[in-house]
Amino acid sequence: MSRRLSVAFYGAGQVSTNAAEILRRRADIEVLGPFGRAQRDAALRAGAEVVVIATTSFLSAIADDVRDAVESGSNVITTAEEAAYPWANDPATADRLDALARSRGVTILGAGLNPGFAFDALVLTACGVVAEVESLLVERVVDLSGFGETVLRRIGVAHSAESFEEGRRAGTVTGHIGFPQSMRVVAGRLGVEIERIDRELDPIFADTDLAASSLAVSAGETAGFRQRYAAVSAGGRTWFEAVFTGHVSPAAIGREPRDSITIRGPYGGVHLEATPGMNPQSGSASIVANSVRRVAAAPPGWTTVGDLPPAVPA
Ligand SMILES: NC(=O)c1ccc[n+]([C@@H]2O[C@H](COP(=O)([O-])OP(=O)(O)OC[C@H]3O[C@@H](n4cnc5c(N)ncnc54)[C@H](OP(=O)(O)O)[C@@H]3O)[C@@H](O)[C@H]2O)c1
Repeated sequence: MSRRLSVAFYGAGQVSTNAAEILRRRADIEVLGPFGRAQRDAALRAGAEVVVIATTSFLSAIADDVRDAVESGSNVITTAEEAAYPWANDPATADRLDALARSRGVTILGAGLNPGFAFDALVLTACGVVAEVESLLVERVVDLSGFGETVLRRIGVAHSAESFEEGRRAGTVTGHIGFPQSMRVVAGRLGVEIERIDRELDPIFADTDLAASSLAVSAGETAGFRQRYAAVSAGGRTWFEAVFTGHVSPAAIGREPRDSITIRGPYGGVHLEATPGMNPQSGSASIVANSVRRVAAAPPGWTTVGDLPPAVPA
């Protein structure tokens, strides 16, 4: 039996609830929470060995929560997508919290299925069977119907054409967040310098009324979106292309959930395919639950999934 570990959850939403349930089945883990906003201190300041912060996607919104947990001596796992590689958004905050974690001897990790696995950790693992990497193409088709309403509206579902466009301009409609972070995690491990990352986000409109578990989509509103991110390396070469199609009913557009990774190299490549694709809800909750031991054992500082051993159910 492994060493007993205490894990507290901040954010009482889908990820926390599902990951806490997974960990409660493990005899050697003590689960505290999930705690909502009103019980912030019970989650962040109780000194649990690992604190999971699953609240929002944005580094600026979780920075003080991470600070308080680290100051209380806890390792932190957060599902905030921007935290998967915080230097991509705000190097000063990333450096400050990294230094704080080092001084307290604890580790911070941003992780989930995406970012945290599908576009980074799994890609790096697949690179192990290729002698030299020329370019990467990672594609996901995701069924969004199980997402909560807040997340769905923010990523771009259930909008009119006008509100999608306005939100995209204002930054309130984001599409899925985390591709630049995943790309930088992979680039860091492969020693590639990214010159720029080009991005596209296009709405997909519903032809008929559709329903997700948390909201209804009327015909003519957005039922999903297509994103393409292209990381360009030295010499203007597209080195890493990420294509993501999210829809509340992929079958309605003739697609099915799937994941694929294509790695091309001068001495041969590899193509991996998962059909049906990895489940966003159970996948993310499992990655979080399966990360508590690797985070507790990791060297201090703000780390990434590129620097840790694989997440495993132990
Ligand atoms: N990296 C990944 O692969 C990955 C995977 C899954 C989720 N995520 C991200 O992780 C976050 C949580 O996901 P979820 O599916 O669990 O969302 P959710 O079901 O909407 O739950 C979020 C919870 O956090 C609370 N919350 C929101 N903003 C907060 C804040 N600023 N301070 C304190 N509490 C706050 C919400 O409370 P109220 O109801 O009171 O607002 C709710 O209890 C989302 O931003 C999601 O995009 C990332």
